[in-house]
Amino acid sequence: MKAILLAGGIGSRLFPVTLGVSKQLLPVYDKPMVYYPLSVLMEAGIREVLLISTPHDLDQYKRLLGDGSKWGINLSYLKQEKPNGLAEAFILGESFIKNDSVCLVLGDNIFHGSNLSSHLKSAIIQTVELQKATVFGVKVNDPQRYGVISFDDKGNPNEIIEKPKYPKSDYAVAGLYFYPNSVIKIAKTIKPSNRGELEITSINQIYLNEKKLHLEKLGRGFTWLDTGTHESLLEASQFIQTIEKRQGIKVGCLEEVAYDNGWISKKTLIITAQSLGHTGYGEYLLNKYSEDEN
Ligand code: DAU
Repeated sequence: MKAILLAGGIGSRLFPVTLGVSKQLLPVYDKPMVYYPLSVLMEAGIREVLLISTPHDLDQYKRLLGDGSKWGINLSYLKQEKPNGLAEAFILGESFIKNDSVCLVLGDNIFHGSNLSSHLKSAIIQTVELQKATVFGVKVNDPQRYGVISFDDKGNPNEIIEKPKYPKSDYAVAGLYFYPNSVIKIAKTIKPSNRGELEITSINQIYLNEKKLHLEKLGRGFTWLDTGTHESLLEASQFIQTIEKRQGIKVGCLEEVAYDNGWISKKTLIITAQSLGHTGYGEYLLNKYSEDEN
């Protein structure tokens, strides 16, 4: 399984903050936003990742993340000339995906919950073994801002609508998707929406029509944060700060996930931690792992 991390767009809802810097590089408390979705991919066990961003932002991502080797992953980069829509990722990424299945994660989505890895495992089984697409549904109080799933009498999903004025349910589709290889072909058939974008929702609706869409509901106890506005960005930082301070853990800590997956040695982890100087992030790693001799 491969993965695409989409980190382009113009971030217009965050102007003037994003006039000089890519939105997904902005800090969410103690680390760049892009760390969070990247950590989800790593938690899913995916080691080959293509990061797509705008032509002028790509160099900054390369400077921040490099080739991924310090986390035991393989990172490559591709530019998207214009924000033509999320579904364009599969057309641009065709030669990277090759014959594999693929996960797409949006660079501005944050997921947190102790059961995340079991949800990810379930999505991978649906994709690899059953050749079905998986979307994640989360209850929200402002569904009109998202792709929204509606359900038939038996509770099965029957439609997904992008940003409906009058949502038929409060289940939003989160920015994390798993697809079999057929997604490349499907992406090439869809037409731009009224807002001129190749919508991920059009792809999901096709899988739903073919009865090949699995909905994984993220229930209570799971947090999905979106960082699209000044308020939600600030709230995301406060949420992460609260959890990290209260529980003494880190969310979206790439070195930790890489080490726990057995992808990097303790020596590599310590070198990275030391290079971060006297920061909470670096000291967290040093405190946790210089004592842990396992
Ligand atoms: O966050 C989940 C939602 O993401 C879903 O519920 C919606 O169905 C889906 O369409 C999407 O909605 P948004 O309105 O949030 O999408 P947005 O245009 O903000 O783009 C999401 C991220 O992808 C954002 O970080 C910018 C990046 N992006 C966007 C476009 C359109 C790209 O890298 N390239 C693009 O062409």
